[in-house]
Amino acid sequence: MNNESAIHTTYIFCEDLFKIYKSEQLEVVALRGLDLQVNHGELMAIVGASGSGKSTLLNILAGLDQPSAGQITVGEFNLLTITPEELVDYRRNEVGFVWQQTSRNLIPYLSAEQNITVPLILDGASRNQANERAKLLLDAVHLSHRSRQKPNELSGGEQQRIAIAVALANSPTLLLADEPTGELDSTTADEVFQVFHDLNENLGVTIVIVTHDTDIISKVDRVVAMRDGKTSSEQIRSIQYSKGKGEVLEEFAIVDHSGRLQIPRKYLDEMGINKRARLNFSPDGHVEIRSTQDTEDRRAMWDQKD
Ligand SMILES: Nc1ncnc2c1ncn2[C@@H]1O[C@H](COP(=O)(O)OP(=O)(O)OP(=O)(O)O)[C@@H](O)[C@H]1O
Ligand SMILES: [Mg+2]
Repeated sequence: MNNESAIHTTYIFCEDLFKIYKSEQLEVVALRGLDLQVNHGELMAIVGASGSGKSTLLNILAGLDQPSAGQITVGEFNLLTITPEELVDYRRNEVGFVWQQTSRNLIPYLSAEQNITVPLILDGASRNQANERAKLLLDAVHLSHRSRQKPNELSGGEQQRIAIAVALANSPTLLLADEPTGELDSTTADEVFQVFHDLNENLGVTIVIVTHDTDIISKVDRVVAMRDGKTSSEQIRSIQYSKGKGEVLEEFAIVDHSGRLQIPRKYLDEMGINKRARLNFSPDGHVEIRSTQDTEDRRAMWDQKD
C-alpha cells in the first residue's frame, strides 16, 4: 500500500485470544493465547500445520465464530463484546471473505456480474450503483471480458478472482481468504495472488490470507506462522533502499504478551534442551540460551554417590 500514514496504525489487535470448542464428550482448545497485530493496509499471510488454528482465527475475524476469551478488536469493533446487531453490520460492511472451495463463493445460476450486483441491489443499492461497482471490481480483478459467464463457464482461477470481487462488493476494509488457491495449480494461484497484491495497492484494503503456498513470502509483505493455536514466528520482507540493501527478508521468533518466546523444537533438540534452559544476559545485549545438561549430569552423579 502506498499510503504511508495508514501503514503503521494497528487495525487488527488480538491478545491472549482463546477459542475452545466444546461438545458433550470433548473440549478442543483451537486458539490458546494467540497474539497478533495487523496494520491498516497490510497484505499478510498466515501459515501453519493442519490443525494449528488458522481457520479458527479467520472465522473469528470474519465474525462467523465467537472467541472464548482474551482480546480481539478489528477497527472500531470489539469482537468479544459485539452485539448481534453490530455483528450484522460488521459482517456486511467491515469484512469480505473468500473460501477455498470455488463452488462455495458464487451463486451458480447467476453470471459473474450478477454475483456482484444482486447482493448489492438486495442491500438497497440502485441498479446503476450496483452496475458501476461491478464494472470497477471486474476491472480490478482483470475479468471485465468474462462478466456474462456463469461460474461453471469460468476456470477455477477465474472463479476465485470473481469471488474476490464479490467479497469486495460492499467496499469492506478487511478482506479475508482461507486457502483461496488451495484448489488451483501454481500458475493460476499466482494470478490470484497478483490480484490480491493489486487490490491491496490500489484500493488500500487490508488483506489476510491463510495459505499452504510454500513460496508465499515472495507474494506478501509479512508471513506469520501458527503452531498449536498461537503465533510462533514471522517473516517480514522489507525494502531498505536507504541502506543500499534492496529487498531484505528477515525471520523473527514472536515474543508474546507475557514475554514467552517459542523456540523451534529442532533447535531445542539440537541444543539438548528439554524442560529447563539456562539464560545468560551478556553486556553487549545478547541473551544466550544453553542446555542445563552439565548440571543434570552432576546432579545424577551426586545421586549415585548417595
Ligand atoms: N467446529 C469445531 N468443533 C470442534 N473442534 C473444531 C471445530 N473447528 C475446528 N476444530 C478443531 O480446532 C483445531 C484447529 O482447527 P482449524 O480448522 O482452525 O485448523 P487449521 O489450521 O485451519 O487446519 P487446516 O490447515 O487443516 O485447515 C483442530 O484441532 C480442529 O479439529
Ligand atoms: Mg483450515
